[in-house]
Amino acid sequence: MKIENVRNFSIIAHIDHGKSTLADRLLEVTGTITEREKVDQILDDMDLERERGITIKSHAVRLLYTAKDGQEYQLNLIDTPGHVDFSYEVSRSLSACEGALLLVDASQGVEAQTLANVYLAMDHNLTIIPIINKIDLPSADVERTKEQIEEILAIDASEALPVSAKQGIGIENVLEAIVRRIPAPTGDKNAPLRALIFDSWFDSYQGAVVYLRVFDGTISKGMTVRMMSSGKEFEVGEVGMLRLGLVPVPELPAGSVGYFLGSIKQVSDTKIGDTVTNADHPADMPLPGFKNVKPMVFSGLFPSTGSQYEHLRESLEKLALNDSSLTFEPEMSEALGPGFRCGFLGLLHMEIVQERLEREFDIALLTTAPSVVYKVIRHDGSEEYISNPARFPDRKDIEWVEEPLILASIFVPSDFVGGVLKLAQDRRGVQKSLQYLSSTKVMLAYEFPLNETIMDFYDKLKSATRGYASFDYEYIGYRKSDIVKLDILLNGEPIDALSALIHNEKSYYRGRELAKKMRQLIPRQLFEVAVQAAIGTKVIARETIPPMRKNVTAKCYGGDITRKRKLLEKQKEGKKRMRQVGRVEVPQEAFMAVLQVE
Ligand code: GTP
Repeated sequence: MKIENVRNFSIIAHIDHGKSTLADRLLEVTGTITEREKVDQILDDMDLERERGITIKSHAVRLLYTAKDGQEYQLNLIDTPGHVDFSYEVSRSLSACEGALLLVDASQGVEAQTLANVYLAMDHNLTIIPIINKIDLPSADVERTKEQIEEILAIDASEALPVSAKQGIGIENVLEAIVRRIPAPTGDKNAPLRALIFDSWFDSYQGAVVYLRVFDGTISKGMTVRMMSSGKEFEVGEVGMLRLGLVPVPELPAGSVGYFLGSIKQVSDTKIGDTVTNADHPADMPLPGFKNVKPMVFSGLFPSTGSQYEHLRESLEKLALNDSSLTFEPEMSEALGPGFRCGFLGLLHMEIVQERLEREFDIALLTTAPSVVYKVIRHDGSEEYISNPARFPDRKDIEWVEEPLILASIFVPSDFVGGVLKLAQDRRGVQKSLQYLSSTKVMLAYEFPLNETIMDFYDKLKSATRGYASFDYEYIGYRKSDIVKLDILLNGEPIDALSALIHNEKSYYRGRELAKKMRQLIPRQLFEVAVQAAIGTKVIARETIPPMRKNVTAKCYGGDITRKRKLLEKQKEGKKRMRQVGRVEVPQEAFMAVLQVE
């Protein structure tokens, strides 16, 4: 196919505005999938994704469409993850395209993530086609949605396309608009190869399957390619296009989207955003925008029984094969024994990994409260990045500490602004702007310390706004901050896995609340347990858990043995998530309690 007839595009949308439904319709109308093949929303092909309704990783698919001008076009749809944790991947996917469909729910209007992703698309000079979805809903307000697109995003919405992805209304118009409005890719077929990696995944038979967009030159079977960020070289065993599966072709010229295989053993060799070039005839410069993404949130993962340690290691290795942003290293906790310190892009990424370990690999996990990475500068001038509270140096050695900051944009109906301002203040937020987008909608920009937003911030924001607020953020760097380590002691023993790093201003209050919370969460034992909170050597709070009085089975009025057994079984089940720490049994919730105290 001629390059003039190729269109590369993605879909930008806020969660639940209908991206997967629209993608599905496009596949259907172009005959890419038939009714029989249709699985609920093809593009989200991981179970977990479907359940959470979040597109986690990018995927791509090639559609063939005969337009009204009688010509056949090749449309490459590159899907993007819809969550802020994956914004780097979104930016790489967008830079593989010439255009983007901006999908807005007609009953919800523009939301925070839409804004962030539109800015990314504008940075990449993409042609943006506004589409107003869910026009079938009685609450749809197409005109107001158009106004919002113009006011908030400064995009001309006069030619916005009204559609109902669910009912299949207006889908042809979308396809025509893709063909007519989005420019064909350009690129020099004869220049040295430059292709952008926008996704990759691991196949146990073929090695890494690398998704790429060719900008210059041609990639073909048999060629030796070089990854420009690492210099590693691989022989191309196969190139192909992405239909519903992988379809080999002899070569992929400039402008096209497809994949290649090269017996690559590790996905970490196929970094998203990297440039693939021809090893024998390399390009001078890589494509712009490559970043080595670093995890921002860390947490300790421990098997709830020691015998699962090896299984946990193997499972993490398997997950990391397909997720180059997941990092892990062995960690030895005095309280919890051997486990792993894992790094994640953000909280959602963390939850996904933990859930997959438990569900797919059947591991009962004990997880410690997530922490951000602090920069600690010692008196001798040395710098260290610390993500594990247990490794935080002694106060007397520290010159100063810096914490990571984010810039958040929050969209909220004007009725709820008061609640958000209060929450932001509680979380050490600094207001950067407050703007009325209409008489009913407000956009707030705030600087927050990242650690204040990983403490159930999103839930609090939702409950302060009855679920109407939307939130997005970007990292903006480090700032000096007065951070201290709060320790929890059980019967006089400090428990490393319960330590937390928090702002000094809040440390006394938090310490007291945390001790109270521990008293509620730790069940009575056969003996009295003293819970203490301490900063440095100073104990700031003490609570006492009185000893257990009765045997649990005493409730069963003697006789009924099956009930008794059931109760014991249940107790055993509960024990899975209990951990013997010294002499004290501590439940999983206690390790996360620091996230629950205000
Ligand atoms: P994420 O994968 O979470 O990013 O969501 P998404 O944007 O892909 O949304 P999805 O396609 O899963 O749609 C979200 C919900 O909106 C689903 O319940 C869809 O059935 C519904 N939906 C999508 N399009 C329409 C539409 O045109 N009309 C109506 N009434 N509902 C729609």
